[in-house]
Amino acid sequence: MFNASSVLDRVLVLEMVRVTEAAAIGASRLIGRGDEKAADAAAVEAMRTALNELPMDGTVVIGEGERDEAPMLYIGEKVGKAVGDAPAIDIALDPLEGTTITAKAGPNALAVLAIAEKGGLLNAPDTYMEKIAVGPGYPRGVVSLEQSVTDNVRALAAAKGVEPGDIIACVLDRPRHADIIAELRSLGCGIKLIPDGDVAGVIATTDPDTSVDIYIGTGGAPEGVLAAAALRCVGGQMQGRLVFRNEDEKARAAKWGIEDLTRIYNLEDMAKGDCIFAATGVTDGSLLEGVKRLKDGTVTTETVVMRASSGTIRYVKGEHRTGQSS
Ligand code: FBP
Repeated sequence: MFNASSVLDRVLVLEMVRVTEAAAIGASRLIGRGDEKAADAAAVEAMRTALNELPMDGTVVIGEGERDEAPMLYIGEKVGKAVGDAPAIDIALDPLEGTTITAKAGPNALAVLAIAEKGGLLNAPDTYMEKIAVGPGYPRGVVSLEQSVTDNVRALAAAKGVEPGDIIACVLDRPRHADIIAELRSLGCGIKLIPDGDVAGVIATTDPDTSVDIYIGTGGAPEGVLAAAALRCVGGQMQGRLVFRNEDEKARAAKWGIEDLTRIYNLEDMAKGDCIFAATGVTDGSLLEGVKRLKDGTVTTETVVMRASSGTIRYVKGEHRTGQSS
């Protein structure tokens, strides 16, 4: 029987850095080249190769899609070179979170990975998820998907000791968010509208430098689980509720064992027990610097890696002489 700390070996914390670095470097050659698919494919291939170097028995539970639609890093794929020979670990990954951002050289594209003990991560289907998140330091339950935007903003403002109009919300810039945006505007809130990349959007609530107090809106469910893993490590609160557009999406949920389609998931329902979260910047952003190629051929990276059980957060600057992570 392994305890939490031995299943997610301390060594894996730093090994995670190599994996997200590799994916970010892989994608970086495609920054601003207008080709989302090529950028994603480069990140996927590099991340898969790096994962298969690690001494672990990993299973992808959040990945590039189902086996018939994703040749690499599909849901259920086994990764690591100790399959059957080490404690089982579940992996949520997004080798390139922000494919469009990367293609357009916009801000906040990331290579992202979270690992947990087997069963620790919600096997979310590739549907949408309503999300609400705030950073650390607030009373538990201060915001909730069961409350209106107005009630959430008022409760958060009261807990922060400011007026509702002082609250800054991060929202994905999508037509589906018109009502949320109108409600926030009627309260006088500041809105940081992001073009893509809601993992970074959720994490922004935990970083006072961003001024973002709350994340609200609907984005990818897999990205929701990745963001939840990050918040488990850094602190904060988050809820998610799956959104289904058709019967096929509901069937996907059933396939992953989700029976209650209207359930509200708290942070611990999406990422429980010990977990490790790592992200490397692909393009410059609020959380991390992007990959840079220097004149002498050196490639630089910045990565954050954190662990829930210890609460340790490390920022790792990499200088890669060969253009490859190692
Ligand atoms: P990709 O990297 O797969 O393009 O996802 C980017 C993203 O903005 C996510 O951060 C977000 O959760 C999702 O897409 C939103 O989906 P949509 O673009 O369909 O609104």
